[in-house]
Amino acid sequence: MPRNPLVMIVDENVPFRQELQAMLAAAKLAVVADCGYGVEAASLAEETRPDVVLVAIAEPHLRAIQTIEAIRGLVPETPIIAYAANLDFRVVRQAMHAGVRDLLPLPLKRDELLHALQQVLVAPVARGDDAPSEEAARPASAGVVLTVFGAKGGIGKTTIATNIAVAIARQAHSSVLVIDLDTRFGDVAIMYDLEPQVTVAQLAAQVRTLDRATFRAALQRHHSGVWVLPSPKHPSDWRTVEPDDIRELVRFAARLFDYVILDTPGAFNDIVGTALEVATQVLLVTSVDMASIKDTAFVLDLLESEGFPRERVYLTVNHANGANAIRADDVSRVLRTPVFWEVPHDDAVVAASQLGKPVVLAKPKAKASRSLVGLATKLSGAPEPAVKRRGLLRRLVPASAP
Ligand SMILES: Nc1ncnc2c1ncn2[C@@H]1O[C@H](COP(=O)(O)OP(=O)(O)OP(=O)(O)O)[C@@H](O)[C@H]1O
Ligand SMILES: [Mg+2]
Repeated sequence: MPRNPLVMIVDENVPFRQELQAMLAAAKLAVVADCGYGVEAASLAEETRPDVVLVAIAEPHLRAIQTIEAIRGLVPETPIIAYAANLDFRVVRQAMHAGVRDLLPLPLKRDELLHALQQVLVAPVARGDDAPSEEAARPASAGVVLTVFGAKGGIGKTTIATNIAVAIARQAHSSVLVIDLDTRFGDVAIMYDLEPQVTVAQLAAQVRTLDRATFRAALQRHHSGVWVLPSPKHPSDWRTVEPDDIRELVRFAARLFDYVILDTPGAFNDIVGTALEVATQVLLVTSVDMASIKDTAFVLDLLESEGFPRERVYLTVNHANGANAIRADDVSRVLRTPVFWEVPHDDAVVAASQLGKPVVLAKPKAKASRSLVGLATKLSGAPEPAVKRRGLLRRLVPASAP
């Protein structure tokens, strides 16, 4: 006897997912997975192999389209049906290009939905022009793993990691998890004013048997939307943590989150080695004093000797323009590496961190905040935040100007 078709639902609206699930159950269709947008949707589709995927196209539309492309990239043979309220023509076109087989209006009518499902479940899989583009076919089962590292303590690694996490989550509408791998005195939780509950050491110990629900339940959520996995309270709690388990844990996390940001101590050990090894990108932080630059030169050589591609190392100068500052050009020349970004010295950073608030939220207009948001934009490829034109500028440059 043929089995009932398996359906996966991708929708950020959890109550609606449940409603839809009930509607499908009444028609004897089993829902094998349901989740929101992002890399998790693609990895879940690959794992659960549904017969059809239902995707909401809701705001932000781009994120819905990217999710459809990612699913098509990993399971190109699985038909996708999208549903949406009021769509403009451009979005409909994008959805079709992304490989959607049918597009239904909201509110969903039971008969219409069942008819659409029937159609795609019996129709052969379209090929040729309907196949995903090469870009869309790029495997996307894992998110970006961004390791924030620097050879010295106190140069702003945690400040940068926690602030760009907030900025990426907000601008790029991405799911972001910060894992505190500072094996000395991790302070990601302090920076977010959170009381640590389950720590990275505890999750690493059970990584071999970990499931998604347990993992998610262990994480803490900052009000900005960023998810946090804090480090253990005492450095001695790291003694039992195996680097292999950390590697597994980060890979597990990267299948659920679009961005996994790893904060590290200003020292070398085997956990830091693992954090660098699993990174898709390394944000190498240096401050503008000779000792920090000398140590950064050492790290660059080390990464090179380990075969880590130079183009994935983003050299970031913190405290630029501070007292006794060496210019970014000089840093770049001495290290023979282009400076990817400069974060200015700004007292607003210290004031915000003392309140347990990322400066990008506490003082969004401060020069360090604007710089950190710019860094997040460059890293995530999110569209530039809209600039409010005021006064003379608005009169000179109309809002509709390209
Ligand atoms: N751009 C900046 N302007 C002013 N102060 C800054 C800036 N960046 C960081 N700071 C301050 O410097 C101090 C150290 O920053 P942070 O804790 O982020 O460094 P770290 O590299 O993570 O240190 P550790 O190695 O000890 O973990 C904090 O008080 C922070 O507020
Ligand atoms: Mg730190």
